[in-house]
Amino acid sequence: MAFLSSKTGQFTYFSQQLGERDWSGKNVLDFGGNVGNMLRDPNCTIDERRYWCLDVVRESIERGRELFPKSHWIFYDRYSFFFNPQGAKQLKLPQIEVLFDYIVAYSVFTNTSRTDMLDLVSQLEGKLANGGVLAFTFIDPNYHAWPDRDPRNNLVWRLEREIFLENTLDIDVHGLAARAKDAQWFVLVNGEDLYLETEQIRNYEPHEQRTYHTFYTVDYMKSLFPRATILPPVNDEMQHCCVIRKHG
Ligand SMILES: C[S@@+](CC[C@H](N)C(=O)[O-])C[C@H]1O[C@@H](n2cnc3c(N)ncnc32)[C@H](O)[C@@H]1O
Repeated sequence: MAFLSSKTGQFTYFSQQLGERDWSGKNVLDFGGNVGNMLRDPNCTIDERRYWCLDVVRESIERGRELFPKSHWIFYDRYSFFFNPQGAKQLKLPQIEVLFDYIVAYSVFTNTSRTDMLDLVSQLEGKLANGGVLAFTFIDPNYHAWPDRDPRNNLVWRLEREIFLENTLDIDVHGLAARAKDAQWFVLVNGEDLYLETEQIRNYEPHEQRTYHTFYTVDYMKSLFPRATILPPVNDEMQHCCVIRKHG
């Protein structure tokens, strides 16, 4: 089954992070934007004709085009462990005829390898107009997103979410959390296989490729992207934001 996102609130999230509410007249690239839910946000000020969405799920691009035909929809047939396991590894970004004032990626690099994130962020920076900004989210495993109402950190939240989604009790939440405690970054495959500070994962047959969640501490993201500003979550969300500006 192709993945079609039902998440909303992405425009509110990024406009709060960037402190800029009026995006009219600006070119926007929603990288990994799926069906374009950003445009459905009631606060959204993006001009439909100035919105480009690029995603590795063909069906999401087709659906987005039906919903917002004035926007630009690009299928990017790049490998993704869960979203596009038949895609081409390390496929370069397609040529797009414009440069962008805003490039956003909500919960995209939370599902790619670290190598893919570094490659794609570098390529995306090359698509910024002068004065443009690239903003993408990541998940700090140790962060408590809702301390007044939920005692769990982001990693324990994710592990318990997997238990719920997969309807299994066979995940050792506290054992996995203890193993990950001091890691700067790690990958959680299928909600139960933990790979600490390495991308060398065992072979998974395509039908076994369920989920691939990557976690990074704030300090580690600062070391990967020293030119970026790292911001804590807003809009009652759990994801941090990494902001890279191209000075004009
Ligand atoms: C968790 S979903 C978020 C979707 C959307 N940003 C939203 O908030 O509704 C992750 C999205 O990233 C896309 N994706 C994963 N790897 C990608 C890649 N290498 N390039 C572009 N999109 C990718 C997936 O297909 C999926 O639509």
